Amino acid sequence: MKTAIIYSSKHGCTEKCSQTLANELSTNTSVINLDITDSIQFENYDTIILGGSIHAGMLNRSMKKFISKNLKEISEKKVGLFLCCMEEGEKAQEQFNNAFPEEIRNMAKVKGLFGGEFNFDRMNFIEKAIIKKIANIENNLSKINYKNISQFANEINQ
Ligand SMILES: Cc1cc2nc3c(=O)[nH]c(=O)nc-3n(C[C@H](O)[C@H](O)[C@H](O)COP(=O)(O)O)c2cc1C
Repeated sequence: MKTAIIYSSKHGCTEKCSQTLANELSTNTSVINLDITDSIQFENYDTIILGGSIHAGMLNRSMKKFISKNLKEISEKKVGLFLCCMEEGEKAQEQFNNAFPEEIRNMAKVKGLFGGEFNFDRMNFIEKAIIKKIANIENNLSKINYKNISQFANEINQ
């Protein structure tokens, strides 16, 4: 049994969640940054977990592209999907549904909302200004939902 966690991350939160998840999985797991390589040896894995984040309502472009390009290969595996975002509850669920196409949501055995972080150290000037204005904060904030990550891991491990 081998698992690939394939992620795209702008300011490091999805990367952190991917590493945390990998540590909780009982399978042999590779953590792959899609923004470094999008060439995946699908035959090496029986489980594929895809993780992305939301910026201005949209999923990372590289993840979107990867899903549409590899839908057939992904559909032959056990699939997990997770999202990092700062919205919570219904709004977060709505973003999840908009981010991942219906086809892939239907094939996913496990789905998760892992919360998010505002990391001002990694934002550019414009992003800082947007977050200051919209969220009314100026300091780093972490709302990673570690409980949801553990629950997701348990479901994959079963
Ligand atoms: C410029 C900007 C726009 C964002 N827009 C949204 C948004 O529309 N909805 C949301 O829930 N979170 C939004 N976020 C929060 C991100 O989803 C959060 O920072 C997440 O942890 C980013 O993960 P990443 O660092 O792995 O890309 C935004 C963050 C930034 C910096």
